[in-house]
Amino acid sequence: MRLNNKRAIVTGAGRGIGFQIAKRFAEEGARVVATDVLEAGAEAVSVLSNAGLDIVFHRADVSQILDVRELAEFARRTLGGVDILVNNAAVNIPGSILELTEEIWDRTFDVNVKSIFLLSREIIPDMRGAGGVVINMGSANSYVAEPRLAAYVSSKGAILMLSKAMALDFGPDGIRVNCICPGWVDTSFNDRHAELFGGRDEVLKNIADIHPIGRTIQPEEIANTAVFLASDEARAITGAGILVDGGYTIK
Ligand SMILES: NC(=O)c1ccc[n+]([C@@H]2O[C@H](COP(=O)([O-])OP(=O)(O)OC[C@H]3O[C@@H](n4cnc5c(N)ncnc54)[C@H](O)[C@@H]3O)[C@@H](O)[C@H]2O)c1
Repeated sequence: MRLNNKRAIVTGAGRGIGFQIAKRFAEEGARVVATDVLEAGAEAVSVLSNAGLDIVFHRADVSQILDVRELAEFARRTLGGVDILVNNAAVNIPGSILELTEEIWDRTFDVNVKSIFLLSREIIPDMRGAGGVVINMGSANSYVAEPRLAAYVSSKGAILMLSKAMALDFGPDGIRVNCICPGWVDTSFNDRHAELFGGRDEVLKNIADIHPIGRTIQPEEIANTAVFLASDEARAITGAGILVDGGYTIK
């Protein structure tokens, strides 16, 4: 049990990578508040609590300050404090800057980047003193761009640098902040972007050109990295971008 007695919030935990992180945290002994804007997240998470894991769902749109405040209050009430915050929620709306509307640009930055600012601002003051861990979900696109993905890659670049800024500011308080940067993970997240290039199956035909490991990455593999970063095994790691990208950014 690598996270025994730890209390965690995981955003975007109704499905995909966030769901697996919340599940793995609970399996490692953490008490978890799993949150998502999707109502369906409640059902997914109830499967875990019914199986005996210490996990509860709370619906919140993390781009909205009132929802974020309610979420922080809920976590304080339910867990009595927060030791680990995973900012994982994001949207991925494809397009070059000529294809994107101002609304899409703003929505991308509100959900992907501003949410980290809003929720961390609520939780970090509670972590000061006892210490804590923040994990922000970046992407291989925090390092390299892709065609027709301008808003998303910009937001993921910002998340890596925001993680470094937070690591600097709160290191003296015993708070570590890192950024996981996945390659192509097997969820539906990339489907809209892939549609612009012939669809998911067509793009994945050339997966060996994208990932030298020759396959996509499983959400559990990202969750295992999150468990490590959240645990004391990673106590010397802060301000880092941790690539879990099957070698995507090698060349
Ligand atoms: N799948 C990939 O290939 C890949 C690669 C690199 C990085 N990532 C990152 O991993 C994270 C999770 O992606 P995923 O693949 O699991 O996708 P996903 O779409 O399955 O999960 C994203 C979750 O975020 C939630 N969400 C969206 N907007 C929200 C909001 N305003 N408030 C609260 N929740 C909201 C969604 O409802 C969804 O449950 C994202 O940060 C994404 O950028 C994914």
